[in-house]
Amino acid sequence: MALLALSLLLTLLAVLSGTAVGSRDISGDVIRMPSEASRFFRSGAASDDEATVGTRWAVLIAGSNGYWNYRHQADVCHAYQLLRQGGLKEENIIVFMYDDIAFNEENPRPGVIITARMALMSIKEYQRSVYFRCQLTENIQIVSPHVVDFLWQDYTGEDVNVRNFLAVILGNKTALTGGSGKVVDSGPNDHIFIYYTDHGGPGVLGMPTSPYLYADDLIDVLKKKHASGTYQSLVFYLEACESGSIFEGLLPDGLNIYATTAANAEESSWGTYCPGETPSPPPEYETCLGDLYSVAWMEDSDIHNLKSETLHQQYELVKRRTANDDFGMGSHVMQYGDVGLSKENLFLYMGTNPANDNYTFVDENSLRTPSKATNQRDADLVHFWDKYRKAPEGSNRKVVAQKQFVEAMSHRMHLDHSIKLIGKLLFGIEKGPEVLNTVRPVGKPLVDDWDCLKSLVRTFEMHCGSLSQYGMKHMRSVANICNAGIQKDKMAEASAQACVSVPPGPWSSLHKGFSA
Ligand SMILES: *[C@@H]1O[C@H](CO)[C@@H](O)[C@H](O)[C@H]1NC(C)=O
Ligand SMILES: *[C@@H]1O[C@H](CO)[C@@H](O)[C@H](O)[C@H]1NC(C)=O
Repeated sequence: MALLALSLLLTLLAVLSGTAVGSRDISGDVIRMPSEASRFFRSGAASDDEATVGTRWAVLIAGSNGYWNYRHQADVCHAYQLLRQGGLKEENIIVFMYDDIAFNEENPRPGVIITARMALMSIKEYQRSVYFRCQLTENIQIVSPHVVDFLWQDYTGEDVNVRNFLAVILGNKTALTGGSGKVVDSGPNDHIFIYYTDHGGPGVLGMPTSPYLYADDLIDVLKKKHASGTYQSLVFYLEACESGSIFEGLLPDGLNIYATTAANAEESSWGTYCPGETPSPPPEYETCLGDLYSVAWMEDSDIHNLKSETLHQQYELVKRRTANDDFGMGSHVMQYGDVGLSKENLFLYMGTNPANDNYTFVDENSLRTPSKATNQRDADLVHFWDKYRKAPEGSNRKVVAQKQFVEAMSHRMHLDHSIKLIGKLLFGIEKGPEVLNTVRPVGKPLVDDWDCLKSLVRTFEMHCGSLSQYGMKHMRSVANICNAGIQKDKMAEASAQACVSVPPGPWSSLHKGFSA
């Protein structure tokens, strides 16, 4: 006990005197902590090479809200810190986050979001890792030698929406509503990095606001951006369930775009550092702190010299880590677009932290910590359950948590049941399930007629209530209904029959519809 106290004291002293610059986390990898604030916000660190590589731009977006989705906004915080340490300028990073986490009543550390990596650290390292925190809500910079709490949020709340996201990519200020007005105002030599983390479903990505983002609209915008000649190359990292379906058969070669996704077109992606898992978040956190694929690329970029690590090396590493074979809880990381670009160094997009200069990526020093994981779609249930489990017997908190859990479950059952029934009404008892579950061959997009898909989703939601985060999993079924030639009228008829009653109104944004 005394020894522990002594070692804590020594750590603290080391931190205060600025001598602690290296430490080892439990997985054996070196994490270097800064000894001076100047390591973080070096003015123009990335500008040395601006003449040769142009400007680095980044768009970071957490597409969800709700405390049970803590991990998406934490991931964006982490990415922001990483890019700032790499030398990207604040004016070149555009951040979308709903900002309902930092001061959420469930947050045990008001005003602070911790990022996943903290869950892996020993107390000793935790002391030094304060810089992983994101201070939210106020766009202020607090810099002391060991605490850098800073995040510039450009679009928050209702301004986190499809329209703004697409306008930001295109650099079209007149199409914006609200927010900071910052856009990707890029030129022909510039490099762009886009990182999106959220729930998704076949052909669709979530947003905290309606409507959600359909794959065809995103691809159209990427084509327009390319046609405008305002980038050299663009890298897109995408975490969401069925994220492969966003690019599969849709993203053409020749746009100078390289994309990787957390999952293929048919599977969910996974949250990690969740309650009840190993490693688990600090016990007062009743929610997942990160996502498996996101954490894999960020923890890799955190510790290496990105001048000597290629996108391809990172892809291979992230693929292995996200597959999570040891636990059978993982997904298949995919790559799309101009795969040849992956021979480039990460440095072109993320810059590099000079503190990592001597840490060249080699297979042996890559983080591959296997961990348990939680299906993205069950992370809300994990939150409600953990809350219920820990709440004192007889407390109001316990009652509320139980209600939330039960409502989430009954909403799921309603959606699953309605879709199945609609399939049977349209195609017959035998054929219904077969049509709904059809998966098109690899390389073929989810649906041929996206307008049909959007219209049938609206029709379904009108009669059966919103699909919501969980219901996005049924997008493939609705797409297949379109592919089978069903039009709006027949869909309306079947939906009205299947959903005679819609369960009681939504209790949270979890149930928000996503059709416009
Ligand atoms: C920018 O957005 C506005 C409003 O949506 C649109 O009218 C205009 O054509 C767009 N400009 C460009 C260059 O795409
Ligand atoms: C990298 O190693 C060299 C040679 O050992 C040393 O002089 C330099 O300070 C190191 N750089 C960093 C950032 O640790």
